[in-house]
Amino acid sequence: MKRSVVAVAVALLASQAGAAGSSPKVNYMLHCSGCHGPAGAGNPEVGIPDMRGAIGHFLKARHGREFLIQVPGTSQTSMNDADVAVMMNWMLQQFSAAEVPAGTLPYSEQEVRQLRANRLADVPGRRAAIISELKAQGISIE
Ligand code: HEC
Repeated sequence: MKRSVVAVAVALLASQAGAAGSSPKVNYMLHCSGCHGPAGAGNPEVGIPDMRGAIGHFLKARHGREFLIQVPGTSQTSMNDADVAVMMNWMLQQFSAAEVPAGTLPYSEQEVRQLRANRLADVPGRRAAIISELKAQGISIE
């Protein structure tokens, strides 16, 4: 999509959010879609993972739930913890609802705050460990 089209889409979404504050979709468009794309497809060729049909699987791995918040794109955003929690819950439903395990609790503001306070020392290492743990469960993620 062309940059100008994205800008118009973001402006339209922002104006729809109105006085109630930014919706998770608007926040995603403003803060994340530049890299991850409006539909979460990313750009795997340059190392930006496709979140579609994938991020829900992370919840099945040890440390996977934490990772979705601790990954730098999420943890270092300028958004506040409450908005991050609402947006990640929305992203899971939007991009990967079928993979979210039954009984998964939504992220809360407090959980997000705690996770953001604990930076990951080795992001690629942690991601690789999660991917291989999922592989052992028969789940393949790029
Ligand atoms: C500058 C580009 C960029 C931006 C902006 C960005 N990300 Fe990312 N994101 C990445 C990359 C690259 C990865 C792969 C892991 C890594 O290297 O950090 C990633 C990984 C992720 C993952 C884990 C998916 C996986 O398969 O590893 C999540 C969840 C995520 N980002 C959420 C977000 C959210 C939420 C935002 C907006 C608040 C955001 N990202 C903004 C580049 C970005």
